[in-house]
Amino acid sequence: MIDRDARVVLIGATGQLGFDLARTFDLPGTLLTPRHEELDVLDTRRAAEALRALGPTHVLNTAAWNAVDAAEAEPARAFALNAEAVGELARTCQALRATLVHFSTDYVFDGTKRTPYTERDVPSPLSAYGLSKLAGEQLARERCERALVIRVSGLFGVARSAGKGGTNFVETMLGLARQGRALRVVADQVLGPSYTLDLARAVWRVVASGYVGVCHITSGGETSWHDFAREIFRLEALTPSLTPVAAAEYGAPARRPAYSVLAHDVLRTLGIDEPRGWHEALAAYLAERRALSATARRDS
Ligand SMILES: NC(=O)c1ccc[n+]([C@@H]2O[C@H](COP(=O)([O-])OP(=O)(O)OC[C@H]3O[C@@H](n4cnc5c(N)ncnc54)[C@H](OP(=O)(O)O)[C@@H]3O)[C@@H](O)[C@H]2O)c1
Repeated sequence: MIDRDARVVLIGATGQLGFDLARTFDLPGTLLTPRHEELDVLDTRRAAEALRALGPTHVLNTAAWNAVDAAEAEPARAFALNAEAVGELARTCQALRATLVHFSTDYVFDGTKRTPYTERDVPSPLSAYGLSKLAGEQLARERCERALVIRVSGLFGVARSAGKGGTNFVETMLGLARQGRALRVVADQVLGPSYTLDLARAVWRVVASGYVGVCHITSGGETSWHDFAREIFRLEALTPSLTPVAAAEYGAPARRPAYSVLAHDVLRTLGIDEPRGWHEALAAYLAERRALSATARRDS
């Protein structure tokens, strides 16, 4: 349980998930959001010093190498941020008796199941990114007694993913459609797309419960990338040329699971409300980005 003296350090507060974690923080205690330049997790010695100075009871780490395809060509860089730096954070948290909350991915699974993966299913990643994220999960849990690993998937949020070039799938689709481009989107990979604002609220509930171990948090339901794109266009009243393609035909450098929907067994056991379904979450996201653009236009 979190008490009034909690000092919660959020690493990556300018990122897609981090931004929503920062704006939904509602626990007793203080939230501290050091900037990347003030706490670079790759500079392990200085990061440990910075954390010691901040005196956290909880450290949330959203920093990641999440360029999935680029990780195939540069696995060492993915492992440095997604695994080795996490191991060092875990060591520091253990020394400070702090809880480490670390974020991972549905891509730790190989996608051979056709029902949602539970927290008890055994990971078996297909890509360098997935392997690096699994190594990070393992180091977090081996080195820190109070480690909470939260797996998320297919994120969309108004801050957009810094590690994906300042975009997310929804923005990429809208941008290409508005340029009048014909779109080919993978139809044989099924996932749970997730609105980071909804996830962030659930994350704080899990942190407040004091649970340690692995926990899945995604928006409800499942869909393919192709059907997700179709729903984005329907809601925005856009009619681009949209063709379903097989992943093999699309030919991305990294292999991705054909099915990576995450079940919410731990949330249910903890009695925490599961995030709403992805259709409703997507509509809320599109409404939020419209409201933000209207404000930006008014202020300019
Ligand atoms: N995006 C997805 O669809 C997706 C899917 C499944 C799982 N995940 C996982 O979810 C988590 C959050 O993803 P996201 O999309 O929100 O990430 P993101 O937008 O790329 O944000 C990462 C944040 O970490 C900061 N950061 C990067 N390198 C750092 C370093 N060396 N030291 C300190 N801070 C650093 C970034 O700051 P700067 O911008 O200043 O570098 C940014 O604030 C990650 O663990 C990711 O693997 C994401």
